[in-house]
Amino acid sequence: MRSLPLRGRLSDVNRPALRDSLQRPLGALRLSVTDRCNLRCNYCMPEEEYTWLPRAGLLNFDELTRVARLFLELGVRRIRLTGGEPLLRRGLSELVRQLGALDGLDELAMTTNGVLLGSQAAQLFEAGLRRITVSLDTLSAERFQRLTRKNEHAQVLAGIEAACSAGLVVKLDTVLLRGVNEDEIAPLLAYAAHVGAELRFIEYMDVGGATRWEPTSVVSRTEILARVQEAFGTITPKDGRGAAPAETFSLANGTSFGVIASVTTPFCGACDRSRVTADGLWYTCLYATRGLDLKAQLRSGATDETLRALLEAAWTKRDDRGAEERKTLPHREALIPVSALRGDPHLEMHTRGG
Ligand code: GTP
Ligand code: 5AD
Ligand code: SF4
Repeated sequence: MRSLPLRGRLSDVNRPALRDSLQRPLGALRLSVTDRCNLRCNYCMPEEEYTWLPRAGLLNFDELTRVARLFLELGVRRIRLTGGEPLLRRGLSELVRQLGALDGLDELAMTTNGVLLGSQAAQLFEAGLRRITVSLDTLSAERFQRLTRKNEHAQVLAGIEAACSAGLVVKLDTVLLRGVNEDEIAPLLAYAAHVGAELRFIEYMDVGGATRWEPTSVVSRTEILARVQEAFGTITPKDGRGAAPAETFSLANGTSFGVIASVTTPFCGACDRSRVTADGLWYTCLYATRGLDLKAQLRSGATDETLRALLEAAWTKRDDRGAEERKTLPHREALIPVSALRGDPHLEMHTRGG
């Protein structure tokens, strides 16, 4: 394997981490590069019509790189490229190259649906990407078609295999939906072990965009663990979760897997992440209804100093605990009505970057 082009020099400097009002550091940034997607997953984009971000409003690669650099200067160490579907953004590997050259970056990753990965995996590795998370909700092509309204299952499997062959560290994400794919817990784990990827089961979340969400559709962490145990025997929790959304476990056969239980067991207390949409709005919580308009600043000539001061002030005030607050509601239903999503696409999970 070639040596990593990422340089961690800033992490050697002993700077105090920026803390929010709940003492959570600014650690991870999710940078969305497009709001477009080539699938229509039922848990994320179940509607027929969407309001898209105007193309002229999308940050260009230099703007995205500048934003990333400013966050790195404030203490961010991990950047994840997201979408919509990030591989739809033209020339993405050039952005990977630009970001990979920034000082202070310990980890550059991407979350993708995998459809276009077969043709791009090697190029992305070559550009400096080392970690990739691919969504895989089913091993059945027919079920995939029902779940995503597209007939691209074979491309996704080919994409996963291409990523593994290219040398990328691959994780797989499975959102479990009651009555749709909960019977695939064991086969999906076996598939992940076969290709050498770590699979994470995700509780179906009531985020913006999940307009069909109902409490009864959630397959809970407790149920996931019971089903895994039934199929594979003893499960041992692993240490060292840190700020990661996934709890990881190992099986007696050596396989590791994760559970992301944002509905029943939120991790807000350790959340060090924030997200920038493709048109430059910065959100400090997945559930936040308002973001800070970085694009307006970038395009009106704000200096680095001004931008850093804005980010620092907002992070210092941050008190978001969206998932924990949702959990206390007596009657939980879809977060945002379709009409509001149409009015402001920033409220959509696919615009927020999953
Ligand atoms: P690693 O820790 O590097 O594995 O990344 P990750 O788990 O953040 O990446 P990924 O994009 O695979 O995210 C997995 C899932 O976790 C998402 O699809 C969401 O369902 C959930 N998730 C991600 N970010 C957040 C967040 O900020 N809050 C909550 N509550 N859930 C999140
Ligand atoms: N619940 C949980 N995860 C979701 N994602 C999108 N919508 C939801 C939801 N309602 C996540 C999935 C998908 C990624 C792009 O976003 O993990 O793989
Ligand atoms: Fe972080 Fe908000 Fe998600 Fe909680 S709900 S983990 S605070 S982004």
